[in-house]
Amino acid sequence: MLEGRKVILGVTGGIAAYKAAELVSRLRAERAAVKVVLTRAAQEFIQPLTMRVLAENEVYTGLFEGSEPLPHVRLAAEADLVVIYPATANLVGQAAWGLASDLLTTLLLTFQGPVVICPAMNAQMYNSTAVQENLRRLKERGYIVVPPETGRLACGEVGPGRLPAPEIVLEVIRGALVPKDLTGLTFLVTAGPTREPLDPVRYITNRSSGKMGYAVARAARDRGARVVLISGPTALPEPHGVAFIRVDTALAMREEVRKNFDAADVVVMCAAVSDYRPKEVHPEKMKKGAAEMAVTFVQNPDILAELGTLKRHQLLVGFAAESGSVLERAREKLRAKQVDLIVANDVRQEGAGFEADTNIVWLVFRDGRFLELPRMDKYLVAQRLLDAVLGLWKGGYGE
Ligand code: C5P
Repeated sequence: MLEGRKVILGVTGGIAAYKAAELVSRLRAERAAVKVVLTRAAQEFIQPLTMRVLAENEVYTGLFEGSEPLPHVRLAAEADLVVIYPATANLVGQAAWGLASDLLTTLLLTFQGPVVICPAMNAQMYNSTAVQENLRRLKERGYIVVPPETGRLACGEVGPGRLPAPEIVLEVIRGALVPKDLTGLTFLVTAGPTREPLDPVRYITNRSSGKMGYAVARAARDRGARVVLISGPTALPEPHGVAFIRVDTALAMREEVRKNFDAADVVVMCAAVSDYRPKEVHPEKMKKGAAEMAVTFVQNPDILAELGTLKRHQLLVGFAAESGSVLERAREKLRAKQVDLIVANDVRQEGAGFEADTNIVWLVFRDGRFLELPRMDKYLVAQRLLDAVLGLWKGGYGE
C-alpha cells in the first residue's frame, strides 16, 4: 500500500529514538521510499549509518552539512508525508511556534502535506500546560498527533509518555496516505464471535478474534467512510474514529444491526455469529450432577440472510470460512443469502482465518468472477476488499 510513497522520517533526541530504526525497516518492507532527518540530539542516540543502511537512502543531519546545502525546500517538495518519531518537547514547541532552528524544523515550515507527530517524553513534561497547549496548536493546524502510551518510562516513572510501537504509527501513516474515496458512505461492520449463555457463568462461543472485522472498520475509516462497528466480545482495543457498539449474543447483534441498517450504505458481516444458542438459559449456575448431560440448542436467526431480503440500496458483503470446496460453497452462500460479495477463506490454510494476523482470501462476486489474493496482513486484505466494494458501488452493483 505504501509502495513508492515518499516518506520523510524526522528523528529527534529522545531515548526512544532507537525505535525509529524499526519504523524505517517496516516502511521499507512496504516499499515506501524513506529519507531520514536526524536532529543533532538524535545523533547522540542513533547513528546516521544505521539509518542510511536501513533506509537504503541518504540521511540528512543538518542544513549546511552533506553534499547539498539547504536541502529543506527540495526534500519538502518531494515528500508525500513527514513523520516525526519520536518528537521531543522541544520539537513540539518549535513546530507549534513556527521556529526554524535546524533542518527538521525548517523543513516543517516548507512542507505542505500531512505531518504525523509522535510525542514521547517524561510524563510530567507531557502533561505540562505548555506541551499540551503546543500539541493543541499543532492539531488545530492539521497535524496528526499520535498520543504516547502510558507505561514505565525511561526516567523510571509510570505515566503517559512512551513512544507507541512502530506498527501503530505505520497504520497512522497508511491512514494518512490512502485516498479518501469512501467519503460520504456509511459502513456497518460486524466483528468477533458471539457468546451464547448457558447459565450466569458459562457460555458457548467460537475462536473468532475479531481482527478481520476491526481491520475492515479501520480501513474504511481511513478512506473517509463513517463507520459503525458492532463487535462481539474480543480482546482488541476499540478503534478510534468509529462508532463502536459492543454486544454479546447473536440476538443482541441482530438487534443492533437492524437499528443501524437503514442508515448504512455498505454492510460487511465479518462476525462469526453462532448458528445455535442453548434453548434454555439457566437462571442459576448449573450444578454438577449426572455423569452425562445434554443441552438442547435452537437456531439463531441468520442476520446476513435477513438483510438479503430487507436490503434496498445497501451493498452486502458476507464472509465464508470453509474447509474445502471454498469457491463452490462461497457461490452457494452468495445466492442463498442474496449478498453482493463474499470473502471466502479456507480455514485449514496456515496464515488464514480466525486468530491469525494475516489472511488468504478469495473475493467472490455475483457475476461469477473471483479474485484470489495472496497471504497478507488483515488490514491490507481489508483495503483490497474495499477496492472491490468501491468498484461495485460505482458500477451500480445492484442491477
Ligand atoms: O453460513 P455461514 O455461517 O458460513 O455464513 C457466514 C456469513 O453469514 C458471515 O458473513 C456471517 O457474519 C453471516 N452470518 C450471520 N448470521 C448467522 C450466521 C452467519 O449473519 N446466524
